[in-house]
Amino acid sequence: MQKLFLLVISSLLIFSCKNNPAVPKSRHHLKSDTAMVVSAHPLASKVGIDILKKGGNAVDAMVATNFALAVVYPRAGNLGGGGFMIIRTPEGAAQALDYREMAPAKAHKDMYLDDKGQVIEGLSRNGGLAVGVPGTVAGLYAVWQKYGKKDWPQLLAPAIELAKNGFAVTEAEAHRLNKYKKDFVKYNSDNQTFIKDRWLKGDILKQPELANTLQIIARQGPKGFYEGAVAKAMVDKVNKSGGIMNLSDLKSYTPKFRKPIVVPYKNYKVISMPPPSSGGVALGQLLQIVEAYPIKQWGFHSFKTSHLMVEAEKRVYADRAKYLGDADYYPVPVDSLLNPEYLKMRMADFSFEKATPVSNIFAGKFELHKESFETTHISIVDKDRMAVSCTTTLNSNYGSKVIVDGYGFFLNNEMDDFSAKPGVPNQFGLIGAEANAIAPRKRMLSSMTPTIVEKNGNLFMVLGTPGGSTIITSVFQTILNVVDFDMNMYEAVQAKRFHNQFLPDYIMYEKQCFSRSVMDSLKQAGHHFKQVKSLGIVKAILIKNNTLEGAGDERNKDDDVKGY
Ligand code: GLY
Repeated sequence: MQKLFLLVISSLLIFSCKNNPAVPKSRHHLKSDTAMVVSAHPLASKVGIDILKKGGNAVDAMVATNFALAVVYPRAGNLGGGGFMIIRTPEGAAQALDYREMAPAKAHKDMYLDDKGQVIEGLSRNGGLAVGVPGTVAGLYAVWQKYGKKDWPQLLAPAIELAKNGFAVTEAEAHRLNKYKKDFVKYNSDNQTFIKDRWLKGDILKQPELANTLQIIARQGPKGFYEGAVAKAMVDKVNKSGGIMNLSDLKSYTPKFRKPIVVPYKNYKVISMPPPSSGGVALGQLLQIVEAYPIKQWGFHSFKTSHLMVEAEKRVYADRAKYLGDADYYPVPVDSLLNPEYLKMRMADFSFEKATPVSNIFAGKFELHKESFETTHISIVDKDRMAVSCTTTLNSNYGSKVIVDGYGFFLNNEMDDFSAKPGVPNQFGLIGAEANAIAPRKRMLSSMTPTIVEKNGNLFMVLGTPGGSTIITSVFQTILNVVDFDMNMYEAVQAKRFHNQFLPDYIMYEKQCFSRSVMDSLKQAGHHFKQVKSLGIVKAILIKNNTLEGAGDERNKDDDVKGY
């Protein structure tokens, strides 16, 4: 009886207080008044906050933190990958930066198919053919040129020191280096930096070759990376590993400043990433769909709220599969997808009682007209309230596992984010169609959703997360947690998450996400389930009464908030 009583009390505690643990005093949670950096590694957050203390602005800090992550968080921080950024100036002007990787000029629609037209398993994920033309170095330079205050070499100096002198690997990094050792050996028989019998927490990782590459970039800017010896080494290694990249692909790579997606949600304004990321469009669709229903009244993770969110997600991911791709190559109908009338019509067959079978869900119809799983995120706010939200990736852990010989950095496997064949899922289970088909120099569709939220015209929240296809729904839930369910930033980030992406036909959920009765009701309504270890690793900053509240995600032990 006593045992039963304790069980009931502990379950009540778990499912009350919005699934949140008590707020601990940890490096995952901090309040400060002046400036803040949240990243996936304490050493990278320190680099960012030091730049801010020395008078750099949020963009300077973002550039320095990115280069530091390329050293201390090699599974996702990168020189050989790409990313997206949302920048909001102290005056409130917002801009998006796209430095997504690009398909090589020799890429073609059927490059991953065998002679029977079937996708060759793994070809878009590992080795040289998986590599897209990297955008990170050009992107960081472009944003620094436009907004930065500090000298370029100063922003690389801390990363160079970390690479040269080494640093103690964390438990999580040691685990991953051990886990992928076989792949490192397969693609990099010459490279010893990341390969050793067994990595242990606290082992020192020195990267002299990477330090040299960073020194070249510090001296020469992107020219030192996209031309000359580094470029030649990249092309040689990619081609030796079965790829098709050439020197002209590298030389012609250009980052692009774009107009962000801006959608209203209640008395908030949500600013996020336009194509070639699907993040901003999908997030905007989800928010506008749920705005029409009283979810605050229904409650956090109640049956009605969860059922609505899942049904909205199914329809939005079905649209994503059909209509989203690189808007420079395909007429992505952004305005139509975000049109409130369209979204209302999209939910016309929504039943409060029953899950809509995925066989009944297709991409929505409207008149087309020409119009216009490892990643990492950094959120930064500076003393003037300039804010930057940046998500960057190599795609999988350590990307294609291909390391550039003599220069010490991993190359991405971002080509897997294209649709290799209509309807055939990629590593995230995402399907695609013509909009995201492979074409020379096209950018592959992303789910990265770096986001900034304004309230009544003022900076309110900066957030984003890794997580492949689950990025969009993790950002979506974090915003709802704060805006509709009155959580603080830490609570909103730690709250359990769920995700539905239309296909596969199930709700992915974290343990203890739903109470037993909500789970039963969702099953009765016809939903299917798959429990997963975790969804997203959100890094966010909330600005209230001019105080900054930063939250890293307890799902990654190494997440770290620094502020002053
Ligand atoms: N590589 C994951 C994404 O861009 O969505």
